Amino acid sequence: MSGHFRIARLGAQGDGIAETGEGPLYIPFTLPGERVLADPNGSRAKLLEVEEPSALRVPPPCRHFGECGGCAMQHMQTDAYREWKRNIVVEALKSRGIAAPVGELVPCASNSRRRVVFSARRVEGGIILGFVRALSHTIISIEECWIARPEIVAALPALRSLARMVGNTDRTFRMIVTSTDSGLDIAVEGSGSLSEQMRRNASDFALRASFARLSVNGEIVIEPKKPVIIFGGVAVSPPPGGFLQAVAEAEETMASLVTTHLAKAKRVADLFAGSGAFALRLARNMEVHAVEGDASSLVALDRGFRFASGLKKVTTERRDLFVRPVLAKDLNAYGGVVFDPPRAGAEAQSRAIAKSDVPLVAAVSCNPGTLARDLAILIGGGYTISSIIPVDQFLWSPHVEAVALLEKPRRRR
Ligand SMILES: C[S@@+](CC[C@H](N)C(=O)[O-])C[C@H]1O[C@@H](n2cnc3c(N)ncnc32)[C@H](O)[C@@H]1O
Repeated sequence: MSGHFRIARLGAQGDGIAETGEGPLYIPFTLPGERVLADPNGSRAKLLEVEEPSALRVPPPCRHFGECGGCAMQHMQTDAYREWKRNIVVEALKSRGIAAPVGELVPCASNSRRRVVFSARRVEGGIILGFVRALSHTIISIEECWIARPEIVAALPALRSLARMVGNTDRTFRMIVTSTDSGLDIAVEGSGSLSEQMRRNASDFALRASFARLSVNGEIVIEPKKPVIIFGGVAVSPPPGGFLQAVAEAEETMASLVTTHLAKAKRVADLFAGSGAFALRLARNMEVHAVEGDASSLVALDRGFRFASGLKKVTTERRDLFVRPVLAKDLNAYGGVVFDPPRAGAEAQSRAIAKSDVPLVAAVSCNPGTLARDLAILIGGGYTISSIIPVDQFLWSPHVEAVALLEKPRRRR
């Protein structure tokens, strides 16, 4: 039954939290201090009406806000939103007893995301393509999007037609759309098998729509132009659906922090290197050993290196860094290390770094919780944090990147 609630604070996922006799109640799209009418269901509630709005409440720019699960925070005034996001990093560190200085959040512009993952599903009479509603499986059809680059938004009707052509399942499938320097790179996953006719139709369509590449379930269907991403002047063609930082400007910021911090090193290791966003930039000034678990990303990195000019030597190694982290004795050959793991963090690798005497370390992470855990390990191994910079790569969402820069004096051997 619906009731009136006063919002006490914001949680880490961006939901307003009201304290009730039965514990905290999470009410999305509300702000601290607000009195709201909401309909509780367990520990969550659906917002019905904001009865006393906060002074920090602003009209959300996107017509889908509140329905679409992509954005959680469009209703909050910008400075307050940025402070809330920075605080996610501060709180994560505090929970591990780390009192390092956290810099200002590096902001993210609207319509800057170059990589977007849409969900699609066949429905009676057509296809629905958009983002999944928060905590549900319902796809909200998207007509506009304030986070994606304009060329991705403009392609929505074409993407819908393409989804209709390749969708051969009743289940939800994914369309990973990347805006590259040579056009849109589209990787469809989980869409069922393609008949020969479907492949031909999709191929013709991709050509007419001037897409750079279309891949379905890992297989390239057509590639009229090689998708190209530039990492600090080096052209790389990442594999279909392979990892890429979502916002080019955020990648540039993070890479610049990393390269500046490691500038004094002659040789560095880039762990969880992907297709080389850091490695190929670092290689302008130093030798780089890039370690990564995904073979096709490493092939892309290596090709980028071979076709570039003016780089120092770059070597690659495929390795599962969760199972087989690079050991301290091997790390000691480097003057610096950067590591940028997936959300799970790099616990095993951090233990190895902690035992090493690599003087300069840069930790990049999209998950403040696992970053704090890994930093605590490094601090336990004698590292000190010189700075932590939060970077807003995921505008209006509760996700935040952070770059931590650490140092440790070399032991005399
Ligand atoms: C957050 S991405 C960073 C990539 C790269 N630094 C960049 O900025 O583009 C994490 C990378 O870790 C890789 N990865 C995930 N699990 C791994 C593992 N167990 N061992 C090695 N690499 C792994 C992924 O393939 C992905 O390329």
